[in-house]
Amino acid sequence: MSEFASFLEKNKAAWNQRTDIHVRSGFYDVDGFRQGQTSLKPFEIDLLGDVADTSILHLQCHFGQDTLSLARLGAKATGVDFSDKAIDFARGLSQEIKVDARFVLSDVMALDLGQKFDLVFASYGVIGWIPDLQKWADTVAQHLEVGGELVLVEFHPLMWLLDEQARVPYFYTAQPDIETEQGTYTDGGEGASITSCWWNHSLSELFRCLKSAGLEMLSFEEFDHSPYPLEGMVEREPGQYIYRSRENQHLPYCYAVKARMKG
Ligand SMILES: C[S@@+](CC[C@H](N)C(=O)[O-])C[C@H]1O[C@@H](n2cnc3c(N)ncnc32)[C@H](O)[C@@H]1O
Repeated sequence: MSEFASFLEKNKAAWNQRTDIHVRSGFYDVDGFRQGQTSLKPFEIDLLGDVADTSILHLQCHFGQDTLSLARLGAKATGVDFSDKAIDFARGLSQEIKVDARFVLSDVMALDLGQKFDLVFASYGVIGWIPDLQKWADTVAQHLEVGGELVLVEFHPLMWLLDEQARVPYFYTAQPDIETEQGTYTDGGEGASITSCWWNHSLSELFRCLKSAGLEMLSFEEFDHSPYPLEGMVEREPGQYIYRSRENQHLPYCYAVKARMKG
């Protein structure tokens, strides 16, 4: 058993609990999605460009809306997640809306599909659940064609330190922040008590891991708002959220990395 196995088991249980709540939430608006709305946000839409006929591996796909949004745009999409409830729901949603995508149940750090993709995509709240970022970057590299690209859009590691109840350090520590929350980041599930483990990853750590996996950076951008409304945030402009307590400060909330697999 790896040193992180018990933390990962906790997180898997937490994501199963959250999935039950999220699929019914206004936050994820599954009904709107069924009717044809995309779940993708402007940052990644810009970076991904035209994905028609592109093979895409979507890491930590949750219950599949982004994977299926990519498939609706013509991509050959594979979503991976370690939550069986999320993967079951994603498969059902795919059948229901008649949009073809493959969903695989796996820990992303142990993934070995024996296949290479044009693109690997992951977004918003992914690497903080990963205790060993080098393993995550190696998974990306292992599944990319030479010349294939990673698009990662993520909450900024500094953002978690701006929250009023912030407890996490900026730099990675092997010991996670273990928190029990009442409910989740969406509406609904107020009675649920959910315990999960979080590791903050600095930008320099991310860049180092990608480089050592064999990826070269094509672009890196930082954004001054979140496209998702998280706790304590207000809508500054339509679709742009910032912390209420930091309204007068110009701060980073998200970043986007595009990196290419070297030969
Ligand atoms: C915040 S969600 C990602 C949101 C995603 N952008 C979406 O489409 O909704 C994080 C996801 O990471 C998954 N996850 C966390 N740790 C994982 C791991 N080690 N392997 C695979 N999936 C993992 C969770 O099950 C969850 O579905």
